[in-house]
Amino acid sequence: MSAMTSETVPAVEPAFADLYEEIADCPRCTLARTRSRTVPGVGPSLAEVMLIGEAPGAREDEQGLPFVGPAGRFLDDLLAAAGLSRNDVYICNVVKCRPPGNRDPEPEEIAACRPFLDRQIEVVNPRVIVTLGRFSMARWFPGLAISRIHGRPREVDGRLVVPMYHPAAALHRGDLRAVIEADFAQLPNLLGRPAARPAPAPLAAGPVAATADTDQGRLL
Ligand code: URA
Repeated sequence: MSAMTSETVPAVEPAFADLYEEIADCPRCTLARTRSRTVPGVGPSLAEVMLIGEAPGAREDEQGLPFVGPAGRFLDDLLAAAGLSRNDVYICNVVKCRPPGNRDPEPEEIAACRPFLDRQIEVVNPRVIVTLGRFSMARWFPGLAISRIHGRPREVDGRLVVPMYHPAAALHRGDLRAVIEADFAQLPNLLGRPAARPAPAPLAAGPVAATADTDQGRLL
């Protein structure tokens, strides 16, 4: 498989064509007024792994592709260490347009974009969903703290959902780098593949306390 860099603009697969067109014309929230380009997502429709970030930043808004800035470079390293590349995974965000000044997405923006994310999950039907950061995590793990549950897969609707720190967190907090690396190193195992490299010692938090989220699925 040829390496795809974050600079490559991939062709849109037919499975995504209508959806991406709809996203490109989306007027559902005020981010439509300030965006340069929508950032629908990238990767194969048959990907086994789907990574869901927060929202596009400045570089993503320019290029129309997710995770092409500094956090994206770290994401590429994390994928490579797990024996994966961008060709193997589908990457998108909770919100498809850049919030001005990279502010957090508002609840109504997340809600407006949710049907797009629903359709992406339906099309890709991944075996493993990795949530990157608290905004995507909140969909499956509402009210839980990432510091407590990162790296702990949960079975939901026949697939695994694994909450992980956002790669940008390691750019601000160096101590999180090894934590994120250890969480990503689990991916081959979750996919039933041999580990690409010896995994660093796990730094994940202890058992997750029983909370009101138990209807969301089973912690593994
Ligand atoms: N951060 C995100 O959450 N998504 C991107 O696409 C880029 C940075």
